[in-house]
Amino acid sequence: MKKAKGKQNRLEGPKKAWSGRFREATAPEVERFTESVSFDQRLYRQDILGSIAHARMLAHQGILAAGEAERIEQGLKEIAEEIETGRFRFRSQLEDVHMNIEARLIEKIGDVGGKLHTARSRNDQVALDMRLYLREVVDEVRGQLLGLHDVLLDRAEETVEVLLPGYTHLQKAQPVRLAHHLMAYYQMFARDEQRLSQLRERVDVMPLGAGAIAGSGYPVNPSFVAKLLGFSRVAPNSMDAVSDRDFAIEFCYAASMILLHLSRWSEELILWSSEAFGFVTLADAFCTGSSMMPQKKNPDVLELVRGKAGGVYGDLQALLVLMKGLPLTYQRDMQEDKVPLFHAVDTVAACLSVFPVLLRSVHFEAGRMRLEAEQGFLNATDLADHLVRQGIPFRRAHAVAGRAVRYCLDKDKKLEDLTRREWERLAPDAGPGVERILGIEKVVEARNIPGGTAKRQVLRQLRRARAELQKRRGRLEKDKEKSALGL
Ligand code: ARG
Repeated sequence: MKKAKGKQNRLEGPKKAWSGRFREATAPEVERFTESVSFDQRLYRQDILGSIAHARMLAHQGILAAGEAERIEQGLKEIAEEIETGRFRFRSQLEDVHMNIEARLIEKIGDVGGKLHTARSRNDQVALDMRLYLREVVDEVRGQLLGLHDVLLDRAEETVEVLLPGYTHLQKAQPVRLAHHLMAYYQMFARDEQRLSQLRERVDVMPLGAGAIAGSGYPVNPSFVAKLLGFSRVAPNSMDAVSDRDFAIEFCYAASMILLHLSRWSEELILWSSEAFGFVTLADAFCTGSSMMPQKKNPDVLELVRGKAGGVYGDLQALLVLMKGLPLTYQRDMQEDKVPLFHAVDTVAACLSVFPVLLRSVHFEAGRMRLEAEQGFLNATDLADHLVRQGIPFRRAHAVAGRAVRYCLDKDKKLEDLTRREWERLAPDAGPGVERILGIEKVVEARNIPGGTAKRQVLRQLRRARAELQKRRGRLEKDKEKSALGL
């Protein structure tokens, strides 16, 4: 390759911020390969906010003159406006969102724009942008989850009286209240919200001041920036500050768990909407048809939620593998963190925007559920329990009840249909009261312990969940206020 002589720069595009040390212009292939602006332009708002806070801090510390910081701030605000109105042209030759904005600032306000990057590196800048971005995203997803909680609790309140078979091994096990079944999902999504609010604490750390790696050599004031941007803490170690992406990985994990729960529920609703189960009817508005078979109504939304879960696990995997071999501190590999992170953000947001609406429109087939709960000996455990109450050891009671079930299978009968004479032969210890404990309502109401499916317990669970939801809403509002930027 020919070497360009002297200071001459055969750059055709805009000049690189780092071009001083270089004799040759970057190869166009390299520009295309190394750019990130095609995807990190999504961070423009955070980048500008972070820069405004940085400029104000520089002025506050006497590193910049007040007038200089004001001109920088004004210029940055105009750039935000240009971007928002589609008048800004992002150029891949300028690599990333940070350098695109800085170059435009210098173009607009001249040399003073070049003072913005004093005491800052793109390494701490990008860490700040990502944290600002994720803090917002975390709160948005929390809000979406609380919306789902709300629908879930409404549906559970409506269905306290509905009984259906509960399954283990996908075989009928014991009857439960539909509300109890739904509340099991509430518990999962409550943990998901908790996970996000815990993650938020780890996102809520301000990394500026770390510089490229070792900390800034200027008398900067990170706490001042943290306060302006609504951060609770300042990064305690500059090297960790520029190389930490735990928060991005943790977000992908939290998103993976949300998708896991949505996917399991989707799978169940798909099964329930099949003719074989017939437990739910999905609204037409949430199904699609077949291009060939005129009779079809398919649960595609639920299938897609289930399918999209895989993509988010891929994002988590990509980030874990991206980071696992990186020595301290910033490595360019880390630029690749944004693609999976943004994909996970978009996917979880999309799923959480459609799922609650779909859930509201699901029609539960209470009659069919009840019919199925009354068939299949879901009261066999209660028969055994009844025998235990007559003083029979559980193991023996289990065997007696099992024989009664087998007898009924042979005779095509239910336990409830057995005559006194049959009871005397099959389970002489059962006593005359046995018929009274076998009805499905009785079976459900027998589970009257905290966390059980008896009506009182389900209502209690619901009351607690409502109170929890209110608290979570309050916490989210407070968190949002904290990060409402006074800039
Ligand atoms: N575009 C880069 C990224 O997203 C910004 C940081 C670049 N730092 C550097 N020293 N090249 O990671």
